Amino acid sequence: MIVLAATAAAFTGWTVPTSFPTSVVLMLVLLFAALRTCAPQLVGGEQLLQIGDRPWHKAPRGGRRASPGPGRVQARPTHPPPHAVRRPEAEQPPSPEAGPARYPANGSAAPAGCPAHGVSPPAPVAAPAWTGQDAVRAAAEEFLELYAAENPRSGRIGPRIAAVHREIDLTGTYWHTPEELAFGARVAWRNNARCIGRLYWRSLQVRDLRTVGDASGVAGHCFDHLRAAHNGGKIRPMISIFAPETPTRPAPRIWNEQLIRYAGYAEPDGRVLGDPRYRPFTTELIRRGWQPPTRRSAFDVLPLVVETADEGPQLFQLPQHSIHEVPLEHPDLPWFADLNLRWHAVPVISNNRLDIGGISYPAAPFNGWYMGTEIGARNLADEDRYALIPEVAQRLGLDTSTEATLWRDRALVELNRAVLHSFKSQGVSITDHHTESRRFLVHLDREERAGRQCPTDWSWIVPPMSGSQTPVFHRLYTADEQSPNFFTDPETTSRGLQGTPPAFRL
Ligand code: ARG
Repeated sequence: MIVLAATAAAFTGWTVPTSFPTSVVLMLVLLFAALRTCAPQLVGGEQLLQIGDRPWHKAPRGGRRASPGPGRVQARPTHPPPHAVRRPEAEQPPSPEAGPARYPANGSAAPAGCPAHGVSPPAPVAAPAWTGQDAVRAAAEEFLELYAAENPRSGRIGPRIAAVHREIDLTGTYWHTPEELAFGARVAWRNNARCIGRLYWRSLQVRDLRTVGDASGVAGHCFDHLRAAHNGGKIRPMISIFAPETPTRPAPRIWNEQLIRYAGYAEPDGRVLGDPRYRPFTTELIRRGWQPPTRRSAFDVLPLVVETADEGPQLFQLPQHSIHEVPLEHPDLPWFADLNLRWHAVPVISNNRLDIGGISYPAAPFNGWYMGTEIGARNLADEDRYALIPEVAQRLGLDTSTEATLWRDRALVELNRAVLHSFKSQGVSITDHHTESRRFLVHLDREERAGRQCPTDWSWIVPPMSGSQTPVFHRLYTADEQSPNFFTDPETTSRGLQGTPPAFRL
């Protein structure tokens, strides 16, 4: 409105009080005012959707074809399209090493999301990738009612539900308003029973990228996500939501479990250089044309794999500027730095399906910041990961001849001190498990006051070290699944670990 008025004033001359330069100044002032009221927040040069309480019917209607309206500027890759890694000429059979995918027997989907400390067996729940029209209608209605109940200023719910029903009748799907999308993503986080860090669910920044569905577009925006979320060390919880699944067009898929993961190379002696969790995935990507660095290391960042129905799986090397890592050192053990350990700063989970009101967004990478134990008590310590406890114990000079010396526990503590100390001293957001446990209880309390159940899975919430020293250990929770939510499907899990099976046949 204001922009239009300013433009009209400048070009028609009516009501323009004085000379041409004055009208130009007037126009600039009005433009500035307009931008302040309706432009998205500008954060570190990145344009992010600013969510307001606008009633839905005043929001510009989107759709695949529509351009984002005023105040809904889409984040755009700031770099040239990423380089695709060369693929082998012909599809070859999967390497025997990749082996059969290990699916849970029930073939179900599991709520996932913000695993506080690793991976546990998927829970038996179902949320199919594409559901029939009736299911979409019912899920849409339930979600829109929730949205209206929690956003009382959003206008009357009846007309919006009717409009969505009509849209579903015509197209089999519907398009969330940007406000619904942002609310849905935040509530999906709030509903995630495995995440201890949910106190900040309202602060999730939402990048609306629903018009992006091609592999290099997705990859480019993922790289921008990494940079924007890192934010010079002050990590911002963030989600990038790419094109949804529709009856006529399948959504893109990101194969990697996280945007940054380290390769695991099988060595001739049977050992693994790097992260053993990704040994089969690494082998498969090499077979697909990825060339590891000439000098392989324990922390080589894997390329990103984005698959679309039209293009098949495409590999993209991450640009250096989107990779932020923290070299690890210990506050009082100088030798610790000689271990040459490091970890990436931002955990961006990239293979979970975001489900909002019957609409499925399979490509919706999101991040919070790390809790130290995820790195120090799992990634670097688990026997099937970097398995560093024996080495740390040996360097500490501990007596490892019997378990009763608790050398494992003592080494674990020092490793975790190093993680927390290094992130802190390098200005990268991280939290410890004691602080985070207390915050989680604050969250539970707030949820209860708001009259909501907070689905919580004890086995994921209790930290993997010193559990009983944290208050979250000493109580029980309800874990009923709620929607919106994040899910991992068995095939998706397999793709993230084995690099197979592809989502689409070309
Ligand atoms: N546990 C995973 C890892 O160590 C990260 C899961 C998400 N964590 C988080 N703090 N948002 O990489």
